[in-house]
Amino acid sequence: MDELLLHVLDIVQNSISAGASLISVEIRERIKEDLLEITVEDNGRGMDEETLKMVEDPFFTTKSGKKVGLGIPLLKQTALSTGGDLKVKSQAGKGTRIKAQFPRSHIDLPPLGDLRGTILALVYASERADILFRYLKNGRELVLDTREIKAILNDVPLSHPSVIKFLREFINEKVKELERIFPEQD
Ligand SMILES: Nc1ncnc2c1ncn2[C@@H]1O[C@H](COP(=O)(O)OP(=O)(O)OP(=O)(O)O)[C@@H](O)[C@H]1O
Ligand SMILES: [Mg+2]
Repeated sequence: MDELLLHVLDIVQNSISAGASLISVEIRERIKEDLLEITVEDNGRGMDEETLKMVEDPFFTTKSGKKVGLGIPLLKQTALSTGGDLKVKSQAGKGTRIKAQFPRSHIDLPPLGDLRGTILALVYASERADILFRYLKNGRELVLDTREIKAILNDVPLSHPSVIKFLREFINEKVKELERIFPEQD
């Protein structure tokens, strides 16, 4: 998996499995510190201390019918291979925060990946949990809050054909906004 946003979707999937109702995803580029930070925070069931100790082990999973749990170990491996790191904070009954840091200038830093596709995936994931997605760079910020979309759709389900057109336009607007906010992708 060589795109950071694919890792993000994987980590968001964990939060959904943990029964979260709200998931916050933050991608922050700290230019001066030469850091790219990805934080995914949820209000799901969290992990007790035993689980938390095991979570970076690829042979640990609580998914039934599976022998390996790779979401967190793979992101950690990607972070470590660039000289970065990944930290998991969690409290049973409260929620979980996963924070990965990467040196921006490292030669092995994977590209962010497909923002348009990621936004679409997050919108569909919001059928199960609301998602607040923020991308911050140079003091500027792109925000996508799936609660806003739900308010506009007003109970029309995401699977309804009329929604497809609306979402296409909504996402086009977001991508245009991104290009406006972050003109030169450095
Ligand atoms: N946000 C979270 N809230 C509660 N538990 C979590 C969370 N993220 C991970 N876990 C626990 O850690 C385990 C390992 O997560 P990881 O993403 O590495 O693998 P997985 O989700 O089990 O499998 P895979 O990601 O390969 O489909 C999960 O099975 C779950 O028990
Ligand atoms: Mg997972």
